[in-house]
Amino acid sequence: MLKRLDRIKAQALTNLESINDPAALQAWKVKYLGRSAELAEVLQDLPKASKEERPQIGRRANEVKNALVAAYEEQANTLHKKALAQSLVQEHLDVTLPGRPRLKGRLHPATQTLRQLFRIWAEMGFQIYHSREVETDEYNFGLLNMPAYHPARDMWDTFYTTRSGIILRTQTSPGQIHVMRERAPEPIRVILPGMCYRYEQISARSEIQFNQIEGLAIGHNITFADLKGTLMAFASRFFSQNAATRFRASHFPFTEPSAEMDVECFICGGEGCSVCKDTGWLEILGCGMVHPLVLQNGGYDPEEFSGFAFGMGPERMTMLKRQIHDIRYFWRNDLRFLEQF
Ligand code: DAH
Repeated sequence: MLKRLDRIKAQALTNLESINDPAALQAWKVKYLGRSAELAEVLQDLPKASKEERPQIGRRANEVKNALVAAYEEQANTLHKKALAQSLVQEHLDVTLPGRPRLKGRLHPATQTLRQLFRIWAEMGFQIYHSREVETDEYNFGLLNMPAYHPARDMWDTFYTTRSGIILRTQTSPGQIHVMRERAPEPIRVILPGMCYRYEQISARSEIQFNQIEGLAIGHNITFADLKGTLMAFASRFFSQNAATRFRASHFPFTEPSAEMDVECFICGGEGCSVCKDTGWLEILGCGMVHPLVLQNGGYDPEEFSGFAFGMGPERMTMLKRQIHDIRYFWRNDLRFLEQF
């Protein structure tokens, strides 16, 4: 029996040495220290031994058991350390590396300009009024004094939908009718921002979609002097304190008289350069006194009320301010462009 115990011990310890993973270690424990291990058998058979041998065998059996338990714990400890060392190498974490910066979003350059324009017009007492991008032919043209036969329609070719008379708006001007019909006969001072669409040959100067900001003021005794004063005050806020402006006579079917406003070229200071095409002036908006027919279509009596309107293009203005030479960059989603602003 004593020999058997020595053999068990030797065999168990030899086996233990070659064990390299937790599962095998667990199996070893069951095999040599478990309930049906050979060692347990020896202890069970103890009563069968002679009286003299019994204490000796019992003592030796305990020694063997203790030795095996100790060896098991040591091996378990070794395996644990090994696994830890390995994971430190494999899942290497270098806390001294600099962190990865989070990419910060930014506002689109057109949005930046829009917000700046909103702020300026708000300071001057103009509310923002949103109106629809999908319009009727009637609102986009007819009610703005462009009946179906009107040649001015040619300036604004549009996208037609499959529903007759439903189009994408070519300008923010139809919003004038919406706001007038909603507010009449109250006085109005609003800007109408938003996307417009045109069926165009795309070029560096024209896109099929772009923002516009329409302005509308309706009330008693509003004159062309109010129009000029307001737009000049705007130009000095948006461009520079003493930005020179000039008004050129023009034509729009929905205003009478109509004009276009230029601002002195801020690149060359009026000397003439490539941005202003050597004229010294940059065209920035169309404007005029609201046509009596348009007032009437909006529900205002032209005998009693008058008003002015204007329309400007935020992308165009951003191009001028930031010296961007091609309007197509705006909606192309090219980060190399967008990240510059
Ligand atoms: N709707 C015009 C366009 O898209 C711009 C415009 C001109 C708007 C004169 C106006 C205006 O309100 O009075 O070209």
